[in-house]
Amino acid sequence: MIEPFIYDHWYICAWREELTTKPLQRWILDQPIALFRTESGDPAAIADRCPHRGAPLTSGTVRGEALECGYHGLTFDKSGKCVRVPGRDSVPPTFRTRAYPIVEKWRFAFIWMGDPDKADESKIPDYHWSDDENWSARGETLPVNCHASLLRDNLLDLSHAHYVHANTLATDAVVRVPIEVEERSDEVIVQRRMVDIHPSPFFSRVLGDFDGKVNHLQVVRFLPASNIIIEVSVSSVENPEHKAEIRVMNGLTPATGRSSHYFWSLARNMHLNNDSLGDWIFNANRNTFFEDIDIVEQQQVLLEKAPAPEHETLFHVDGGVNAGRKLHARLLAEENSSAD
Ligand code: FES
Ligand SMILES: [Fe+2]
Repeated sequence: MIEPFIYDHWYICAWREELTTKPLQRWILDQPIALFRTESGDPAAIADRCPHRGAPLTSGTVRGEALECGYHGLTFDKSGKCVRVPGRDSVPPTFRTRAYPIVEKWRFAFIWMGDPDKADESKIPDYHWSDDENWSARGETLPVNCHASLLRDNLLDLSHAHYVHANTLATDAVVRVPIEVEERSDEVIVQRRMVDIHPSPFFSRVLGDFDGKVNHLQVVRFLPASNIIIEVSVSSVENPEHKAEIRVMNGLTPATGRSSHYFWSLARNMHLNNDSLGDWIFNANRNTFFEDIDIVEQQQVLLEKAPAPEHETLFHVDGGVNAGRKLHARLLAEENSSAD
């Protein structure tokens, strides 16, 4: 089942440092967007399709507070208004292109893809760990050839770690220990409390090549439309003070119906100045994501060629996936009914 997108939400569209006076084309929810920074430093997001003859505005140049089309020079400001027509003194008021609300927060830029009048900055999901002096965070953007919902399903059911991530996150406890699912009006929370287990290879290393038993709490939060925050706390059973906390922030922004921008960042709150541990964590985590990407891209190809049967075979690990799908479906229905 390929889910329709929901629009009245904030989506991560870029890292802040990607917004410069060199315009960047990025597809979001099947729409080409021109992302740029004006010369005074304001972020801007406008439709990357010139209303004159359809050239991408990103083929052009930022001039002052506006973006000049690279084909015949029509120039648009960040509100989408045309501010210059070459060879004419005045600009017809109908000359404009669509502008999208864009807000920089923490290390990201968030874009609002729906009705601009509904864009409420207080609804931007909490990614503060990416930019907090008590945490050390590092991440990147991975292009993934699949519908974003497959990435969400992947993260709402971490039992796959035992199979997909055999060398890093594997522990049979993720399969054996049941999840607790909490469904809120605007969030799904999936918890797994793994008590008195052997640490996964990843957490053994993070805890300093620790080979004792640990308590491992995993909390996965789905914040629509397209955000998953994973909060993990792992502590020694014998000495609970010996512990590690991480936050994995996942912005699963749809590019098209079959491709996504996977913005991820992992933050830790210990050994903040240990760069070699930071490098190891970053590489270990991205390698696990490559393993995820390999399987979800295979899933996408198969779903396109041979759509899923009407009844999927679901089992106990799927509680979070089901709750996530249900929440998305409810928000989609609400959005459609408010548009009527
Ligand atoms: S296509 Fe942009 S000015 Fe002609
Ligand atoms: Fe995974």
